[in-house]
Amino acid sequence: MKLINRLYFDYNATAPLSESVVNYLRNGAFVFGNPSSVYSEGREARKLISETFDFLKQLFHIPSEGHEIFFHSGATEAINSLVKGMAMYASSQGQKFHFFYSAVDHSSVVKQALHLPLLGHEAHAISVDSNGEIDVEVVIQKIKIQKGLKLFNFTQVNNETGVVWPLELAIKIKQATDCFVHVDSVQAPGKIINWAAPRYELDSYTFSAHKFGAMKGVGFTILNQNMPWIPMHMGGGQQKGLRAGTENTQGIYSIKLALEELVRDFAPQTLQSHKDTLELALEKMMGSAGQITGKKASHRNLNTINITFNREIKTELLLAALDLAGLAVSSGPACSMGVSVASRVLLEMGLPERMAKNSLRISLGPKTTAEDMSRAWEILSSVLPKYLDYP
Ligand SMILES: Cc1ncc(COP(=O)(O)O)c(C=O)c1O
Repeated sequence: MKLINRLYFDYNATAPLSESVVNYLRNGAFVFGNPSSVYSEGREARKLISETFDFLKQLFHIPSEGHEIFFHSGATEAINSLVKGMAMYASSQGQKFHFFYSAVDHSSVVKQALHLPLLGHEAHAISVDSNGEIDVEVVIQKIKIQKGLKLFNFTQVNNETGVVWPLELAIKIKQATDCFVHVDSVQAPGKIINWAAPRYELDSYTFSAHKFGAMKGVGFTILNQNMPWIPMHMGGGQQKGLRAGTENTQGIYSIKLALEELVRDFAPQTLQSHKDTLELALEKMMGSAGQITGKKASHRNLNTINITFNREIKTELLLAALDLAGLAVSSGPACSMGVSVASRVLLEMGLPERMAKNSLRISLGPKTTAEDMSRAWEILSSVLPKYLDYP
């Protein structure tokens, strides 16, 4: 989607619709049949879903047996369904369910800790160090001491900082504890080199369509059939009962279109070099006034720069000024009624409240050009210094 006179640098929040999705929608291909119906309108809808299914199987090298893909309304739904679904399964077997998650995971993961005790189960938070990384040995010990059905949520790429946890870490944890592992891969497509290479030693992977240029309110999960869970959405027998409800045909098909386009556009070296150049220039300009979050992490993604400032910069005013100048960027957490709040993720990484409250996240996309980068730098270098000197 072409943005006129705007620079959109908030790809971790959401991505503009891919050209191919826009063209598909513009063409008015309003397939309306119920994909479960046997007449031709239904079959036409079913065909789009099957094409997407086959495409995903190929792209993600999904083993021909033992795995399922199911579509849903996005990662928030999928995570709720998997976690509570495993809790229900444990209850049905008279077992205790233990959910392990990191304190820097997305809120849709972290907030499971509020529901699980109500169901008689337990959630365990795992802390991270100042680089946003977990200590695998500590995680293993924490999981090992619990008895019952266990699930570990592993966030491959952090949405706020861009810190990457290689899948090998999760595999190590799985091998040492034999717990089930769900990988939150929402921020992987187009943002790390091997985004389409899940490791099937792990049990499930969740993706959200709007993060890579497909439509909002749709996503998919790749699931090992061995995962013991009771799906949260009960109803008609759609999707083999993994997620009942009439499928969002157009949304699902947009996943195929957007991922095809992403595969074509993905230029990791260019993206990395755009990010590194901007990051270096920002560091020089800020001096001691700000720092790059997770800079020393062993692995970072290709597109995210998160800055924390050492002083009060009135983030909400800075974001508004950048917006007026034509640049869409964000601070990690949402502002509440225009007032910036401290980022839970940055606090968990040990940053003081002052810095966790004053952060800026810039996240590039696969179509970000060198020209976009220089225009963004013009805006940032003229607006940001005024806020660094805020009394
Ligand atoms: C890492 C991560 N997990 C989960 C989600 C939730 O995704 P959705 O918008 O599809 O519910 C997000 C969205 O920001 C995310 O970044």
